[in-house]
Amino acid sequence: MLTRRALLAGGASLAVAGVTAPRAVRAAARRAPLRDPFRLGVASGEPAPDGMVLWTRLATDPLAPDGLGGMPRRPVPVEWQLAEDENFRRVVRHGTETARPEAAHSVHVELEGLEPGAEYFYRFRAAGELSETGRTLTAPAPGSRSRALNLSFTSCADYQSGYFTAYRRMAEDHPDLIAFLGDYIYEYGDYEHPVRDQAGGECLDLAGYRLRHAQHKTDPDLRAAHAIAPWAVVWDDHDVRNAWAGDVPRKRRAAAFRAYYENMPLRRAQRPVGAALRLYRGIRWGAVANLHLLDTRQYRDPYACAGRGGTVGPDCAERLAPARTILGQEQQTWLDAQLRESRATWDLLGQQVFMMEMDWVRGPAQGWSNEGWDGYVASRDHVAATVGAHRRNAVVLTGDVHSHWAGQISRDHRDPGSKPVAVELVTTSVTSAGDGLDEYPDTPDLLAENPHVRFFNGRRGYVRTRISRREMKVDFRSLAYVTRPDAPARTSGSFVIEPGDPALNPA
Ligand SMILES: [Fe+2]
Repeated sequence: MLTRRALLAGGASLAVAGVTAPRAVRAAARRAPLRDPFRLGVASGEPAPDGMVLWTRLATDPLAPDGLGGMPRRPVPVEWQLAEDENFRRVVRHGTETARPEAAHSVHVELEGLEPGAEYFYRFRAAGELSETGRTLTAPAPGSRSRALNLSFTSCADYQSGYFTAYRRMAEDHPDLIAFLGDYIYEYGDYEHPVRDQAGGECLDLAGYRLRHAQHKTDPDLRAAHAIAPWAVVWDDHDVRNAWAGDVPRKRRAAAFRAYYENMPLRRAQRPVGAALRLYRGIRWGAVANLHLLDTRQYRDPYACAGRGGTVGPDCAERLAPARTILGQEQQTWLDAQLRESRATWDLLGQQVFMMEMDWVRGPAQGWSNEGWDGYVASRDHVAATVGAHRRNAVVLTGDVHSHWAGQISRDHRDPGSKPVAVELVTTSVTSAGDGLDEYPDTPDLLAENPHVRFFNGRRGYVRTRISRREMKVDFRSLAYVTRPDAPARTSGSFVIEPGDPALNPA
């Protein structure tokens, strides 16, 4: 039997010879079977009390250089089923969507009218082939006090830096929700000595970003994490370009945004319009938690103190300027309203970059990163004041820095005696920065001069939480290595946070 690759090769040689294939041959090629079209797996996301998004993207050849996954340039019907049981005996919803070439054959099924606080299973069928089965959940009913939320989160999955074992270990915990806090892909070109080879070089256009996303989704550990629970995703810089801050050409940004939407289980409200995509939004979990997902990349002011992102330098007046914003006015106003109206026990702020103050220079000299909220002090003060004014139990969930951290955010950065108003939990990366160490030579000094920082671990992994109305239990999960597959995960730090007191109590 002819494989699709062989058919394509045949077509290419005909073209080279300047011969047009007869109509019957072309028709046969169009009807050629799509072998194993579900190589990118399945996913769900954006859980609400009555629904969620189901996602898949068809690709028979995920590493095809044009980013189109080896799919023919025609629409393909995709059937889907949602059931109450894993064996699909009690199917509660089903339908057919069209996977279109202009959307890289991705499918987003947005469901409503389902039972709150329920577990469901879903699968797709296309070209006579069945996808794997995914598990997903609806959020509890508004105000419902019944269920705790098992939330895990991580960030920064550089394919070339190692194996995605952290995703596998997350899946094994069977969480209710996975929050991904940015750098789902890295746009970088090829490394000299990668742990794993990537396809395609640096992402510069739509084909490049589509291909990078497709290669990630071929990873069995990542597919397992998508198939086990709904996700809530935000991006960081590398989903577009290293340290970007409104300075990426519109065409490249639009390409990155479009590929991001195509490859993530997002709602129609997050569909990009050119070089704009509204990623900030809320996910509610009964009376237990409101998750506010923020976008600190798209609307931020340019970097302060004449630096590029990530620069650690001496202080400058600019980073303290009262008009500076990391969220932009619209998003800030939205977040203010979310915090004002919140009635949940916990308000979780899922976002990208270090929010707590952090002096990165040892000794009496000081140095601030201008990429995090230290470069946008007025924004941090505003959020801290809003959290304080509405007496919210705020926990900030952060990624970006490729190491685990836990600490406290103060009401006023200028006053060392100022009361903490929120806890920040910073997750390490899936792979970025390689195997790592538990501690670096300068870690004790850094912790000593930042007394509001309570925990550090420099290995790869994720953060696992169990959030109830009584307490929030936090486990920092660390992997021994990522340069080889299948590392075990261990808990390198464990804390309990109680409502009414933004402190990290040892568990
Ligand atoms: Fe990163």
